[in-house]
Amino acid sequence: MAKPSHIITVLVTCLAISTSSTPGGTRSRPPNAPREWPCPEATEISPCECYADELYNLLMDCSAVENDSQLADAFQAIFPFNDFYELKIDQTDNANSALAAISRYTFGEIYFERILIKNTKVNLIDEEALTLSYLTLELLDISNNMLAAYPFEALSNYQVLETFIIDGNLFVDLPPINSQSLRILSANRIDNLTFGESVFSMAPNLESISMNHINLQGVMPQTLFSSLQGIKNIDLSSNAVTELDVDSINPTDMTITSLDLSSNAITYVRANAINGLNSTCTLNFANNELIDLSEEEWRPVFDQVSGGSRNIDLSNNPLRCGCEIAWIILDENQSYLPLITENTNCNGGEQLISLDPIFFETQCNTAKMMQQPRVTQPMNSET
Ligand SMILES: *[C@@H]1O[C@H](CO)[C@@H](O)[C@H](O)[C@H]1NC(C)=O
Ligand SMILES: *[C@@H]1O[C@H](CO)[C@@H](O)[C@H](O)[C@H]1NC(C)=O
Ligand SMILES: *[C@@H]1O[C@H](CO)[C@@H](O)[C@H](O)[C@H]1NC(C)=O
Ligand SMILES: *[C@@H]1O[C@H](CO)[C@@H](O)[C@H](O)[C@H]1NC(C)=O
Repeated sequence: MAKPSHIITVLVTCLAISTSSTPGGTRSRPPNAPREWPCPEATEISPCECYADELYNLLMDCSAVENDSQLADAFQAIFPFNDFYELKIDQTDNANSALAAISRYTFGEIYFERILIKNTKVNLIDEEALTLSYLTLELLDISNNMLAAYPFEALSNYQVLETFIIDGNLFVDLPPINSQSLRILSANRIDNLTFGESVFSMAPNLESISMNHINLQGVMPQTLFSSLQGIKNIDLSSNAVTELDVDSINPTDMTITSLDLSSNAITYVRANAINGLNSTCTLNFANNELIDLSEEEWRPVFDQVSGGSRNIDLSNNPLRCGCEIAWIILDENQSYLPLITENTNCNGGEQLISLDPIFFETQCNTAKMMQQPRVTQPMNSET
């Protein structure tokens, strides 16, 4: 019984290959194709499950595999096509799985456009496990596994990889990312992740970088983003950054539309630390230790994002709303106050955008004049 059915499978496979067009193109259903075409017999790949969409793109869900050999066995089945659209292994609901390693043989001859291996106990992905996917892989999500190492040096081989998600692993060091295609990098929740100042210098097309909860400490590394031509979103929230020095944020153009440094320990942002903000950029500095918004340091930042509205969040900072912020309150064009969020309060609890300008006019001008020859205010403003 086994032999004839095997022959039929092979025949169908040949037929399928002859009718398939270029990878990713449309495929027509061969006459007499078995009901599950283009997926293999369900029993051959169990406990993986195969789906095909209306264009016969293949999706494989192996979330239920129990160990390494069971996963490898599923890919020994006969498939009508080797080019899969997606592989998903999400073991959130399969905590007893012993799946631990993706070897160079695990996926046989199969290659993918999207791979998601998440929430597993996988601690090893062999450098050659995905060589067949070098020309096709667009998304690689290996978040929340037990990986302490990954063959990052092979990234440059992936020709169309756009999204790389490595959140929640055990990496210690992130080496320089070498990729012309990469647009999205997510490396959140990796405790004490270290990296050099040139970590992004060989990935010039990055648009989104997220590194929150990595325990980044002290003065923010300088020139980290300086070779990025189209960086839009930077998320370094929930770290322990204390200070931004000159050129901390300085991509090549005004491309940044979202900069999130909330929930750090920032006390000080030096003048010229932040550049490259697009005019409607959202700036999140909530939950920091900022005290003074001095004109020299912050006015250039406000000027960059002046096309936005309520787009600067400084809530939960011990802001001292004295004369050093008179430049915001008394700005003759009234262009700065509309940028500040409604929940931004001074350390005394007053809403910053509701502060009384009259107070600043009298108090702060007086303070200024105390240092100058005594002239009465009306005379001064009329001359
Ligand atoms: C893998 O898991 C399957 C299903 O639980 C089991 O039958 C098989 O013995 C396991 N193989 C190994 C090597 O542990
Ligand atoms: C990270 O560093 C802190 C000290 O800065 C240490 O207490 C903590 O244990 C480290 N975490 C890991 C996972 O090494
Ligand atoms: C802001 O971004 C838009 C859209 O990407 C772009 O067209 C514009 O040039 C940017 N603004 C500046 C000042 O570069
Ligand atoms: C107010 O706006 C005018 C016209 O845009 C500009 O020339 C002037 O420099 C602005 N004043 C301040 C203090 O920004």
